[in-house]
Amino acid sequence: MSNINYKNALVTGATSGIGLETAIRLSESGIHVIAAGRRKEKLLELKNKISCDIIEIDIRDQDKIYSEFGKLDIDILINNAGVGRGFAPIFQAEPEDINTTTETNITSFLHLLRAVVPGMVKRKKGHIINIGSIAGLYPVSSSVYGGSKGAVHMINQNLRVELSGTGVRATEICPGRVNTEFFDVAFSDNPDKKKQMTSGLNLLEQEDVADAIMFAINSPWRMNVSMIELTPTEQVPGGSIIKKVE
Ligand SMILES: NC(=O)c1ccc[n+]([C@@H]2O[C@H](COP(=O)([O-])OP(=O)(O)OC[C@H]3O[C@@H](n4cnc5c(N)ncnc54)[C@H](OP(=O)(O)O)[C@@H]3O)[C@@H](O)[C@H]2O)c1
Repeated sequence: MSNINYKNALVTGATSGIGLETAIRLSESGIHVIAAGRRKEKLLELKNKISCDIIEIDIRDQDKIYSEFGKLDIDILINNAGVGRGFAPIFQAEPEDINTTTETNITSFLHLLRAVVPGMVKRKKGHIINIGSIAGLYPVSSSVYGGSKGAVHMINQNLRVELSGTGVRATEICPGRVNTEFFDVAFSDNPDKKKQMTSGLNLLEQEDVADAIMFAINSPWRMNVSMIELTPTEQVPGGSIIKKVE
């Protein structure tokens, strides 16, 4: 068996950053792309660039997830749409940001899997790429965003078990900081924090993450790349904090 016959890919969050770059790469490799996102003008720009179908959707619209995606035969799911609202510690996070981040990064993420994976299992063919983060593997002082990506980590681990014997592969991609619109959205009301998060190091580029995704997809069928962690050389997660209580 081989993955040579993957035909269709659904990419969520295809309007910018990692999703956009991955949609382009998949199309270049001969896969038909279905690109999803909220910003119609960006989807139309992509459609001008590559041959693809576009679906304008707020991924938090559960009914639309099932009606739009449940009927498609998807071979590759790039489960990528995500936000970093509520990056502040939980005792400072805006309640609305808690909802936005958990609804987008966890609830919708699970409904997408529920809508798309049954077809993969039935056809015994498919590859799910779940976009996690190093924030889901190490503490980054963000219970909200880190917690949402921690959920992605355990979802991918459980999926691997659930999918055993089906021939469907699942990969979690865990990037460190990437130079995308992510930080504009996460810190739209706090430019100083955005600057602090994105300066002083050479960030990863969206191309680097797309390379990792394509590596997992193009691996021989016998090999499931379960997780890839990639960080800027100048960003190292981990360590311990010692702070005296004054
Ligand atoms: N950049 C980083 O440092 C970094 C690091 C680790 C992991 N990640 C993860 O990588 C993934 C992609 O982020 P990115 O860095 O490429 O950032 P990005 O450029 O801001 O892309 C985020 C994408 O998600 C889509 N999206 C967000 N909310 C949505 C919603 N409610 N409905 C539909 N689409 C929605 C956006 O599309 P619309 O706005 O058009 O809807 C956009 O296409 C996210 O899951 C993020 O958590 C990013």
